[in-house]
Amino acid sequence: MIIEPRMRGFICLTSHPKGCEQNVLNQIDYVKSQGKIAGAKKVLVIGASTGFGLASRITSAFGSDAATIGVFFEKAPAAGKTASPGYYNSLAFEAAAGRAGLYAKSINGDAFSNEVKSQTIDLIKADLGQIDLVIYSLASPVRQHPVSGVLHRSVLKPIGDTFSDKTVDFHTGIVSEVTITPCNDEDIENTVAVMGGEDWQMWMDALLNAGVLADGAMTVAYSYIGPKVTEPVYRKGTIGMAKDHLESTAFKITEGLANIGGKAFVSVNKALVTQASSAIPVIPLYISLLYKIMKAKGTHEGCIEQIQRLFSARLYTNGTIPVDEKGRIRIDDWEMDEAVQKEVAELWKGATTENLPGIGDLNGYKSDFLNLFGFGIDGVDYAAEANELVEIPGLI
Ligand code: NAI
Ligand code: NA
Repeated sequence: MIIEPRMRGFICLTSHPKGCEQNVLNQIDYVKSQGKIAGAKKVLVIGASTGFGLASRITSAFGSDAATIGVFFEKAPAAGKTASPGYYNSLAFEAAAGRAGLYAKSINGDAFSNEVKSQTIDLIKADLGQIDLVIYSLASPVRQHPVSGVLHRSVLKPIGDTFSDKTVDFHTGIVSEVTITPCNDEDIENTVAVMGGEDWQMWMDALLNAGVLADGAMTVAYSYIGPKVTEPVYRKGTIGMAKDHLESTAFKITEGLANIGGKAFVSVNKALVTQASSAIPVIPLYISLLYKIMKAKGTHEGCIEQIQRLFSARLYTNGTIPVDEKGRIRIDDWEMDEAVQKEVAELWKGATTENLPGIGDLNGYKSDFLNLFGFGIDGVDYAAEANELVEIPGLI
């Protein structure tokens, strides 16, 4: 069928298989253009189908010739209904890996469940033996706890005080005031249960106990800090509590991996347009100002540039991995650059519906958002019939 974007709120209901494929091929080309990285050879990526996780899988495979297993939770296609973009991305990734002679298999299911963990372990045992890098890149609004059975829902709320500030509806470009009432204690617990480190720890315990982690295995999860303007809803809000928990879990995992000489890290990444970040109030306005400034400075990066730099300039340099005073890897250094942040803060104060198209990169935001779903990609013929029903062969 002819596939067009169908927007509803912060999501797009359709996605384009050819556009998603082209997105993946572009990312592969970028990684290849940057040269080889002396990285891990057997890599498990949890949250491998979009955003930073997909970029991690591509960087591992096409930067270091790694065999990869990807875990994700995506909608398969059905008659007249497109799959979710992560599904088409993974199909395209596996096909490209196959053409390059690289092992790639994927598991589509709930990574928070015991079942998906044991399926993954079985697949590692059968095909790869042991893993030397585990990337943990889940972003989810809900988690069913595998022990209690409780369905936890994360919320994006400030803690303590009501928060009011500007936000933009990036579809319409309208800048307005958003007010968010503070969370209760349960909101914090639930958000930490979904986006904190417990599930990462469970994965690493399960992999270690099954004997499928190689000596010196490393694991990396992704976090965010960001500017003062987003602090009340992000870093000092409910999601920030989850990120604090995730970051402290890295130390516990490292202790647990002592016998195999393994290590856990958190990498603080740059703010980027992904399905996860588009749903957070205030962030899209911040990102559109940030993009404009970083593009002008020539320091703008997308997911693939961020992760390629993380792997080549932080994780696999042959030297020690540089970390901040809290033990975190910082690849958000160009975003957090003092001059950049000063400029964002200035522009923020004066941002209105009328001037945002000029002072911010609203168009860049919009096109990045459409690109997530495989739309607006150069070289794709959107007027042509596309086969939405293509499936990932051998998907578990
Ligand atoms: P994303 O939405 O692009 O990717 C999320 C991935 O998790 C997808 O592969 C999805 O299929 C998978 N997933 C979600 N629920 C799942 C489940 N129950 N079982 C299996 N797979 C599941 O998100 P993004 O932005 O790449 O986020 C990844 C990490 O990076 C998150 O921890 C996020 O907080 C962090 N981060 C994001 C930033 C941003 O600006 N987007 C900035 C810095 C860090
Ligand atoms: Na991801």
